[in-house]
Amino acid sequence: MTDTTVLVLGGRGKTGRRVVRRLRERGVTVRSAGRSGEVRFDWEAPETWEPALAGADAAYLVDAQDKPGVWDAEAALGELSRLAVAGGVRRLVLLQARVTELVGGKSLIAGERAVRESGAQWTVLRPNWFFQNFDEGVLLDAVRAGEVALPAGSGREPFVDTEDVAAVAVEALLEDGHAGQTYELSGARALTLEEAVGEIARATGRDIRYVPVEHQAYVDELVRYDVPADYALFVADLVAQIRDSKNATPTDTVRQVLGREPRDFSGFVKEAAARGVWNT
Ligand SMILES: NC(=O)c1ccc[n+]([C@@H]2O[C@H](COP(=O)([O-])OP(=O)(O)OC[C@H]3O[C@@H](n4cnc5c(N)ncnc54)[C@H](OP(=O)(O)O)[C@@H]3O)[C@@H](O)[C@H]2O)c1
Repeated sequence: MTDTTVLVLGGRGKTGRRVVRRLRERGVTVRSAGRSGEVRFDWEAPETWEPALAGADAAYLVDAQDKPGVWDAEAALGELSRLAVAGGVRRLVLLQARVTELVGGKSLIAGERAVRESGAQWTVLRPNWFFQNFDEGVLLDAVRAGEVALPAGSGREPFVDTEDVAAVAVEALLEDGHAGQTYELSGARALTLEEAVGEIARATGRDIRYVPVEHQAYVDELVRYDVPADYALFVADLVAQIRDSKNATPTDTVRQVLGREPRDFSGFVKEAAARGVWNT
């Protein structure tokens, strides 16, 4: 399918960047979109949606569900899907999250229905928390500072590598057999935050600790740092999903789709430590 053109939203983000790279390696024409750059796409600027979709046969959709602010994912995904199908897009792969409960009053899977009802071939990806939160996302600064304080208790999470998420996305974008599937994507092992941070500490030889904190104390702390109260609650509720081991059972979807095991957290930690990403 090298004559395919794929629009990738969040093309510089953790999964989108890897989807772009993998598609290009397979000779696919990619329209990598973001709020700035060559292909402009902004969820808050609907006039950018149709031009971004131009010429695409398939699209990888990343929403802005976990960003602060008011956001009607269902309406936005509905309108985008409608424009996509009207413009000739035949396949939609939607990134959501393996969180089905409301967090801070928000649904992280609110966009799914619109995509399922779009008339396109659709695949939904629901990954667990990413490995890359530790080396390029929300936890990076805390790891570097030597203390990861979260209201995650001793709950477990089967963190997943965004390389695996991207590899599954590319299969769903290019190959047959994935239409109508909702893929829950996890790593092979469910880890506590203490175990995950402990692995990073050992690999770097640094004193890096996980400190469990109370839910409300965490919300109050974020608010003290000028995080809006509703967003602070959202983040704390999201972490509480780990505390309560809500999505702790590993799935074998990565193996089923890719025919190999998901990447292990230890391998990721060794590679990231060797890159020096956690050095201060
Ligand atoms: N992080 C996790 O552990 C995790 C786990 C499971 C699911 N998810 C899901 O993955 C998705 C992405 O989260 P992430 O943390 O990995 O972020 P990310 O993809 O690394 O970064 C967010 C991306 O969204 C783009 N973006 C932000 N606001 C936008 C807007 N208004 N319009 C268009 N694009 C916008 C940014 O691109 P530009 O800055 O270039 O515009 C950036 O590429 C979310 O839906 C989240 O629920 C995340």
